[in-house]
Amino acid sequence: MSTRPRSAGKLPLTDLAELKQRGEKIVMVTAYDYPSGRLADAAGIDIVLVGDSAAMTVLGHDSTVPATMEDMLVLARAAARGAERPLVVADMPFGSYQVSDEDAVRNAVRFVKDAGVDAVKVEGAGPTLSRVRAVVGAGVPVMGHIGLTPQSATMLGGYRAQGRTAKRAQQLLDDAVALEEAGCFSLVLECVPAEVAVRITHAVSIPTIGIGAGAGCDGQVLVFHDLLGLYEGRSPRFVKRYADLYSVAREALGRYAAEVRSGAFPQEAHTYAMPEEELTLFQTGLPA
Ligand code: KIV
Repeated sequence: MSTRPRSAGKLPLTDLAELKQRGEKIVMVTAYDYPSGRLADAAGIDIVLVGDSAAMTVLGHDSTVPATMEDMLVLARAAARGAERPLVVADMPFGSYQVSDEDAVRNAVRFVKDAGVDAVKVEGAGPTLSRVRAVVGAGVPVMGHIGLTPQSATMLGGYRAQGRTAKRAQQLLDDAVALEEAGCFSLVLECVPAEVAVRITHAVSIPTIGIGAGAGCDGQVLVFHDLLGLYEGRSPRFVKRYADLYSVAREALGRYAAEVRSGAFPQEAHTYAMPEEELTLFQTGLPA
């Protein structure tokens, strides 16, 4: 297993650009609570993303759209407590930045002040560029996100790869350059052809973090529940499952249920005793 030598304390945001320049890959994973934040930290992950994918993975919705600021603040606060060294980036949920620059700044500041995160992430370009300028102007670092942007999946025709025609690929390239100019410190490229991701990665000086965008990005991100196999059923094509924790957990819970029902759990080792004389007193009755 290859891990980067760890300096003490929080990874400085400015180190990310240096990692890109040195050709060292950046590792990002989503986390949504204290244990997943701790695990990411212990594994030497560089960036923890409190993704609005939480709406699906943690809250059981069938898209990211229902995630609210209140949901995201609770999750971000917990993940940030666990992830001490990684940079913690909170996804701004749908509706928290689409209406105005003022909303975007107010909600980004809430993430930093109330949840203790280091940066926020927003989806798209176009009208989002003005939000990026406003939030960065208020002193909050912003990560961009283009390609398949799940908050606008309906407008994109569903959860499908983006930038597969020359015209759309050029649009993504233009968007990436515009997001860098607007002040983003990094850019997620989701579900775009590998060649397009390579062009974008060379065209911008900020690090690109790919998900379903090939090996040519400056870093990679996967969703915690996808890479650990924390659910039943198939994952998207771009996911590699590094474990099957769903099966492990289901088997353990099944054994626990069987042992409670049979009386095999708890045993003496799991039980507290009390001094003999206190027990006798308790059983015979306390003096009046
Ligand atoms: O919400 C999320 O988990 C994301 C990643 C897939 C990049 O935006």
